[in-house]
Amino acid sequence: MAVSKISGDALADLLSRWPAWDGPLYRLFADRIAMLADTGELPAGLRLPPERELASALSVSRNTAAAAYQLLRDEGLAETRQGAGTSIAPHVTTPAAVHRANGLFAGLLQASRVEVDLTLAAVDCAPQVTAALCDPATVLSEAERRAVIGTTGYFPLGLPELRTALAELLTARHGLPATSGQILVTTGGQQAIDLLMRTFVIPGQPVVVEDPTFPGALDALHRAGARPIGLPVSHGLDPDRLARAVTTHRPALVYLIPAHHNPTGLVMPAASRLRIAELAAAHPGTLFVDDMTLAEHSLRTGPNRSLPPPLAAAEPGLPNLVTVGSLSKLYWGGLRIGWIRAVRPMISRLAAAKAAADLGSNVLGQAVTAAVMASKHADIVRWRTGQLRARRDVMHAALRQQVPDWSWDLPEGGLTLWVQLPGGADGGAFAQAALRRGVSVVPGRLLSTADANRDWIRIAYTRSPGELRAGVPPLAQAWHGISDRWPAGRRSA
Ligand SMILES: Cc1ncc(COP(=O)(O)O)c(C=O)c1O
Repeated sequence: MAVSKISGDALADLLSRWPAWDGPLYRLFADRIAMLADTGELPAGLRLPPERELASALSVSRNTAAAAYQLLRDEGLAETRQGAGTSIAPHVTTPAAVHRANGLFAGLLQASRVEVDLTLAAVDCAPQVTAALCDPATVLSEAERRAVIGTTGYFPLGLPELRTALAELLTARHGLPATSGQILVTTGGQQAIDLLMRTFVIPGQPVVVEDPTFPGALDALHRAGARPIGLPVSHGLDPDRLARAVTTHRPALVYLIPAHHNPTGLVMPAASRLRIAELAAAHPGTLFVDDMTLAEHSLRTGPNRSLPPPLAAAEPGLPNLVTVGSLSKLYWGGLRIGWIRAVRPMISRLAAAKAAADLGSNVLGQAVTAAVMASKHADIVRWRTGQLRARRDVMHAALRQQVPDWSWDLPEGGLTLWVQLPGGADGGAFAQAALRRGVSVVPGRLLSTADANRDWIRIAYTRSPGELRAGVPPLAQAWHGISDRWPAGRRSA
């Protein structure tokens, strides 16, 4: 069915980092609308939000919204009719695939002048990996490199050496028995999730996720045409509630992040994990996916730092319990190395889907990574968790001091703070105000299946301590500039 109007929030997501350039706001707005109209993302006839709604979603004055619409009309990009509001005027468009308006990743597609980006939970390259990439001879002999280069280079299942290294890692470090035949190497964790959704979910089928969750999983779910069902988890997943959702909705797939959940950082207790493994055994028609991408990101110190094993450790041969992961958040995202661990027939099916998508990921990067894993993995985890612990503490202290009325739990792991704004304040409107001060954060609703978490924001603490310290004063100024719109005490439901 054609969409005939767009809400203020959805338009804000499509606009992405629109104010991060020089010039008056109404001009920047009109330029971005023109671009979106050209690419077909805003089709002719689409009704734009009323001025008041636009002003509120973008945290601009009503005058700015009115001036922006006037400029669009002057330039022939929009028309306003009595009683019908303002809509995009017919224009020449280039046909383009219209992607779901995920404002978080849209930022990756544009160059912009955001000074401190606290949206992407991306880490810099670990020094051990940098050394190996700059001089592969330090980890691979010339004969070994020539052996890789002497192949066709096409390995849809992944380079055998890396599949073996990943299987050993899961078996030895995580207590999840795995053989190389049970591993598929993917282009990052994102492709692992995407392949699973597209291979095992028929459009219209329900998929259960935690709410909030990793927004990339929501993107994959939407691309697969799935019907999302979110379970609230701001304070942890209730396995009884999951069991009820599974028996009621019979979902095709359940996607969970039990270890240092993105965005809350929470760790699912061992007892809940066992319950979920039992649930999987009782419901063979539902695929349960355990995303371990952040499993090694424990920021706890002292004894009892080890995590409970992954879900599949309780039932390693269960065909409908699969595990995915990635090296992006430990080693470097630029490697684009992720993986899926599943029973062999499922790996064959997923490899066919992967071959259809890209015929396999880059092999030289896989060869270097396998060699680094063999000798330096524990070292990298130690280095990375030390780095992230220091950065989390810098962000925590700076926010405590400068925005003491915000609330969050100090995460025991992961890459992000999940912060609740007081008084039911709108995280999207705040993110817009922060953007205009050069700092980007993610509004909570972009991590939700149902527009929930509106008074939350996600703040990544992966940048350098200097950048984090520089980013907090503009955040505090943006907050103090708009917080009187939500008198304290009027909390949202
Ligand atoms: C839980 C989770 N899974 C998967 C991914 C995607 O990882 P990659 O960069 O390897 O595609 C992320 C990235 O933030 C993540 O947080």
